[in-house]
Amino acid sequence: MFYPEEIVEEVRMKNDIVDVISGYVKLQKKGSSYFGLCPFHNEKSPSFSVSPGKQMYYCFGCGAGGNAITFLMDYENYSFPEALKVLADRAGVVLPQEEMSGEARAQADLRAALLEINKLAANYFYYQLKHPQGRQGYEYLRNRQLSDDTIRRFGLGFANKTSDDLYRYLRGKGYGDLILKETGLVTIEERGTHDKFWNRVMFPIMDVNNRVIGFGGRVMGDGMPKYLNSPETKLFDKSRNLYGLNYARTSREKYMLICEGYMDVIAMHQAGFTNAVASLGTAFTIQHASLIRRYTDQVVLTYDSDGAGVKAALRAIPILKEAGVSAKVLNMEPYKDPDEFIKNMGAEAFRERIAQAKNSFLFEIDVLKRDFNLDDPEQKTRFYNRVARKLLEFPEALERDNYIQAVAREHFINYQDLKQLVNRLGSRLGQVLQTETQPGTSYREKKKEKEDGTKRSQRLLLTWLIEDPCLFDKIEGIITPEDFREELYHQVAQMVFEGHARGEVNPAGILNHFINDQEQYKVVAGLFHGELKESLSNEEQKKAFSETVLKVKKNSLDEASRRAADIAELQEIIKAQSALKTLNISID
Ligand code: CTP
Ligand code: MN
Repeated sequence: MFYPEEIVEEVRMKNDIVDVISGYVKLQKKGSSYFGLCPFHNEKSPSFSVSPGKQMYYCFGCGAGGNAITFLMDYENYSFPEALKVLADRAGVVLPQEEMSGEARAQADLRAALLEINKLAANYFYYQLKHPQGRQGYEYLRNRQLSDDTIRRFGLGFANKTSDDLYRYLRGKGYGDLILKETGLVTIEERGTHDKFWNRVMFPIMDVNNRVIGFGGRVMGDGMPKYLNSPETKLFDKSRNLYGLNYARTSREKYMLICEGYMDVIAMHQAGFTNAVASLGTAFTIQHASLIRRYTDQVVLTYDSDGAGVKAALRAIPILKEAGVSAKVLNMEPYKDPDEFIKNMGAEAFRERIAQAKNSFLFEIDVLKRDFNLDDPEQKTRFYNRVARKLLEFPEALERDNYIQAVAREHFINYQDLKQLVNRLGSRLGQVLQTETQPGTSYREKKKEKEDGTKRSQRLLLTWLIEDPCLFDKIEGIITPEDFREELYHQVAQMVFEGHARGEVNPAGILNHFINDQEQYKVVAGLFHGELKESLSNEEQKKAFSETVLKVKKNSLDEASRRAADIAELQEIIKAQSALKTLNISID
């Protein structure tokens, strides 16, 4: 941690986690906790819990968990200092300035400098566009029917014809070659230094918090390459950012429009569709889909109407589905992309096309159909079989049946026949699937089995102690933090025991210690929401508790005897081991 622990704690304590998360997730009170739909994975019924008592959240579905700070880190893509700053501002806490460690400060400084340089560059490009030297760029954009308002809103700019004026400008602002190299805006080679972008209109790419993280630049005509983009940098990760999302995320629409490019996003926004985003020349990724899923579970794909666009849509559909986003596909014919469609047909016609957008499954069937010549009986049969197989993608009978009906209707197939075909295929495949999966258990189950018994006991005991501090009395004189032999559990145990001695165990605060290690963080967050004893009867609970305590202690003593340095120590341990046999732990 880079800030003193007391400050981090102060910030965290002054921000009630229920308040913070309520800004993002709709929460409902249930017992002592709040529940909502998890923003980190797809689900239909709420398993995302927020505990005001512990000041923590935990998802029983995907295992995401943490405190208010990590929530912002995960949700807003903030670094730790950024999240801390937002929460500090929110609660009116003033953060100290120079408290970071050398390495951490260097990283934070680098990021901040890169953001600052990108901002300077965006302003520089915008300034050029608005002055005589940028006239060609300005006219190009105006010819493409962008208004001054739109140009300002998207911060469009112009990179001059000279090949290093941005470089010189940034040097003039005091930035050295080393950092400028990291921005991807200049290439510094022995032969000389050049701006990456020149003689192009510029599109700054912003993250969800309106910070410029990269650029795209377009030639004003037919040159190659048409678009040039910033390389990936410490700020710019193409697979995790969507162009236009900074605006789209505040749109009131229930769905988002996904398109291919800069100009499409801008044209749609200008026409009033401020819910449009683009994945910018890279293939749509699962990270893009999860990002979208934070804001909506419905999208309309408005990819180009050419072969590449259809292919992109076919690729994106299952990825979206996997993330829990349902997709429709918009038909742009006879135009190539949203920009051209809107220019020719206007916003109203586009709105109609949105309303008519096709369910993604039916779209996939349409595309599939193009591969078959339905005048040929053999090919027709093959097509029907492919359709039936595809229909089996729906695991739920009712949903499957709805699709069977829809496909039958659209493609003039007899409903009963199609249904029969699907069922027959299903039972055949079902048999195959069953024999395939029988021998091994699923990956998940295997993984579960692996956690060995002693580790599990330590985890359970720790969880229970956190849940129910009264249990500390029962283990007094028996269990100490040293008995938690798993290194990570040991660390946590020390803090939990210390907290208990002070009269207050503070889960969210303890969690802060693990903020820099994702893996450990997850495990510790899980500890604070581990499996409860609630499903057990009173008797069973007592038994489980004393068994667990004994197991932890026994393992600890065994471990100690293996490490004993001398006979005297060993004798002590042996004494303790035999005492354990007669130990009786009661929790009445
Ligand atoms: N793209 C890219 N590099 C290229 C071509 C395209 O990165 N050489 C990306 C850009 O993000 C572009 C998107 O792919 O916005 C879509 O490309 P394309 O359909 O060719 O361009 P349009 O969006 O139609 O752009 P314009 O209308 O300006 O021709
Ligand atoms: Mn276009």
